[in-house]
Amino acid sequence: MYADALKHGQKIFAVAPMIDWTDRHCRFLHRQLSRQALLYTEMVVADAIIHGPRQRLLSYSPEEHPVALQLGGSDAGKLSEAIRIAADYGYDEINLNVGCPSDRVQSGTFGACLMRDAGHVADLVSAMKTVATVPVTVKCRIGVDDQEPAEVLPDFLRRMIGAGADAIWIHARKAWLQGLSPKENREIPPLDYDLVYRMKRENPDVFVGINGGIADLDQAASHLKVMDGVMLGRAAYQNAGLLAGVDAAVTGTGPAEVDWLALRDRMMAYAEGVIAAGGRLHHVTRHMVGLFQGFAGARRFRQILSAEATRPGAGVEVIAAAFAAVDIEAGSRVQPEEKKLAG
Ligand SMILES: Cc1cc2nc3c(=O)[nH]c(=O)nc-3n(C[C@H](O)[C@H](O)[C@H](O)COP(=O)(O)O)c2cc1C
Repeated sequence: MYADALKHGQKIFAVAPMIDWTDRHCRFLHRQLSRQALLYTEMVVADAIIHGPRQRLLSYSPEEHPVALQLGGSDAGKLSEAIRIAADYGYDEINLNVGCPSDRVQSGTFGACLMRDAGHVADLVSAMKTVATVPVTVKCRIGVDDQEPAEVLPDFLRRMIGAGADAIWIHARKAWLQGLSPKENREIPPLDYDLVYRMKRENPDVFVGINGGIADLDQAASHLKVMDGVMLGRAAYQNAGLLAGVDAAVTGTGPAEVDWLALRDRMMAYAEGVIAAGGRLHHVTRHMVGLFQGFAGARRFRQILSAEATRPGAGVEVIAAAFAAVDIEAGSRVQPEEKKLAG
């Protein structure tokens, strides 16, 4: 996927891995909006795959492809075992989390604190490459704590590339491992896009993607003038409607208009299946709340989903009622600023 993208000058737009957010239901929704976007799972810890409820952790709908499994771990044997187990599920990529700063992650000595030990991460990537039959990629920060990013990041990348990483996604800010919450660590350390651009320029033959603070498709397109890929997290989740412009704007394929009623019908059919399998309507609709930002009726849409979909026994008619509250005709065209990117 990445080698092809590089060879043909294609750009990749990805939705970032986000714990509690990018679960399978979220990814199903996102896939209805963009055929091309690369979708990441939440981080799944290797130990959980080995010892935990692997079917629940790893299963997903075939419609979600292309989908990348993000692993958390710092033990080559466990990561390899997790990859062997996950192979049955047909993920399109395996990604290693070297960016998450939460206490839970640090106590397992993985996530962002691995930035301190590039040699060890390189060993992990080599081991993962030996067992994986799909691309192995790394998502990292530009550094942690008192590291000097301009010094450590080039070396970190060199080692990842030497170990065979197929792509590097860089969240363009440091993580502070002490004193900042994970949320603050996504907001307070300043973004350094220039350094990430430099990493791309210095590694022309390797796929390098950028992440962090990218708010819309205009900004995404601007990064893609330099970078091979853009990864959006919060903006893609909180304003999922923007994904409807991705195929036309970023990859130059796909319709520039969304068939919202067809989307409604697909989400209703999907939610029926989830409920029939023992799930709750809310498991699906909680990801849909931000769908209609900027549309007349969006507030009512949110209210209906938030209040009614959480009631015990709520059925898919709630989705129909929520869509009926939106002035879809007036707002059904992709926003002009999203269209502009196609050029
Ligand atoms: C709720 C939430 C959960 C996250 N979970 C993960 C995760 O599991 N793995 C990871 O690498 N990054 C995780 N992140 C970080 C995002 O992948 C991304 O790097 C970060 O939000 C910056 O991108 P953005 O500014 O586009 O949101 C999470 C972010 C959020 C908001």
